[in-house]
Amino acid sequence: TQRTLVLLKPDAVRRGLTGEIIGRSERKADWRITALELRTLDRATLEQHYGEHVGKPFYEPLVEFMSSGPVVALIVEGERVIEGVRQLAGPTDPIAAAPGSIRGDFGVIVRENLIHASDSEQSAEREVKLFFPHHA
Ligand code: GTP
Ligand code: MG
Repeated sequence: TQRTLVLLKPDAVRRGLTGEIIGRSERKADWRITALELRTLDRATLEQHYGEHVGKPFYEPLVEFMSSGPVVALIVEGERVIEGVRQLAGPTDPIAAAPGSIRGDFGVIVRENLIHASDSEQSAEREVKLFFPHHA
């Protein structure tokens, strides 16, 4: 079984969409939340989290946005959950995301796309340790 690190981004918290988004993940058969915290991210944490994007043109605005208010960080565990949450989220650009997906239903602009979910087993393990260092 897998685990993945999910962030409900500051736009999702500001717009009151956390319950809706968490509910979609919680209702999937076999999946369960094993950690959950509301917190405001600092630059150092974001630089580690988004290390692959440091230096890209969208990096600074991304960090500004991601530190603009609290996020909800959670670990979701279950069968095929890494690919599964990415599927629930939809593509990075919300306009390319189909209705029915989280980004497709609630998003318009690329930066404010509501949710992050780990993109591989390797990223998931790295991100879980970054956000929940004491989690088993
Ligand atoms: P995350 O789950 O947040 O990592 O999104 P992702 O895996 O779908 O996308 P990626 O890791 O490639 O990019 C991280 C975040 O940077 C995205 O969610 C967007 O908010 C932002 N981003 C990525 N590409 C672009 C871009 O071309 N333009 C802008 N403005 N933002 C981008
Ligand atoms: Mg990503």
